[in-house]
Amino acid sequence: MFLRNAWYVGAWGTEVGRQNLLRRTLLNEPVMFWRQEDGTPVALADKCAHRHAPLSAGQLVGDAIECPYHGLTYDASGACIRVPGQSTVPPNCRVHSYPVVERYQWIWVWMGDPALANPDDIEDFHWMDHPEWRAKGELMHLKANYKLLVENLLDLSHLSFIHKTTLGTNAVAETPMQFDRSDRHVTVTRWIMDSPAPPFFQKAGGFTPEEHVDRWQHITWTPPAFVRLDIGSARANTGAVDGDRSQGFTMRNLNAITPETEKTTHYFWAQAHDFRIDEPWITDLLVQNIHEAFLEDLWIIGLQQENVDSGTTLPRIDINHDGGGLQAIRNLDRMIAEENNPAVAQAAE
Ligand code: FES
Ligand SMILES: [Fe+2]
Repeated sequence: MFLRNAWYVGAWGTEVGRQNLLRRTLLNEPVMFWRQEDGTPVALADKCAHRHAPLSAGQLVGDAIECPYHGLTYDASGACIRVPGQSTVPPNCRVHSYPVVERYQWIWVWMGDPALANPDDIEDFHWMDHPEWRAKGELMHLKANYKLLVENLLDLSHLSFIHKTTLGTNAVAETPMQFDRSDRHVTVTRWIMDSPAPPFFQKAGGFTPEEHVDRWQHITWTPPAFVRLDIGSARANTGAVDGDRSQGFTMRNLNAITPETEKTTHYFWAQAHDFRIDEPWITDLLVQNIHEAFLEDLWIIGLQQENVDSGTTLPRIDINHDGGGLQAIRNLDRMIAEENNPAVAQAAE
């Protein structure tokens, strides 16, 4: 049900250390994170090969982890290197070691065949640590399937309703979008021309409630569940066909969505901006506003999941605004089917 041969964000770099060994379920698998003495992050299956106790409840011994139950000890590659009370280690005694890369403030984990892991395939989130940008974010927990969150981010017409006191204005839902897609990406673009700025944008951009802005939302999905939003507002009526971005401010809302189980999701996100980056309170204001808006998303999506779980078999009705979400989920489902059945992939070529 999940795309396995892919990089996912498993943790913020700040969450992983040598104290408080981190256990986190990713794609239904218990994973433990820790750092070697030189700081290199490690991700191992959090299930001892002996009797399946969680290694994350154990302790580090140098660059190895000792199981809390009977003391079997594993190195960073997952190989068992010590069995108390015997001089030899059973040859197949090891736990799975996940390829990991620390990049863009996050610890990335490859959940599939380690032989296929290529760090070059990690999604571009350079705004997270680029010197001309400032980014900050958090991890939220969603009680719903991750695809519902992908759909949510690809259709921002919900801003007019769920986020009416923060990000939304009536004009958002009334403005159609343009869609662009390939097998590997979907983009959704919307320009909301010559209309009042929402409360959050008034604060961020210094617009008055009466002032009109041209506002853009340019959203890109890439598999399995990365959604990057290029958003902003500029002074209206500049004469430019699509608005003049130089007359306003730009932000990136960066979302890395990792399934925990079929019905729960780790939601890593950050807000990045390239204006007034030497004023941390601006970043904090942006993050706080988005956090409050995302709580509204988690609320409605959690309720959606409850209704899904109620066993109803009613079909879902699609509307124009669903174009981006439908295409993204279709692409993702095709990739999952191909991964599980290579014959499907060959037939498609
Ligand atoms: S369960 Fe880990 S050593 Fe026995
Ligand atoms: Fe939302």
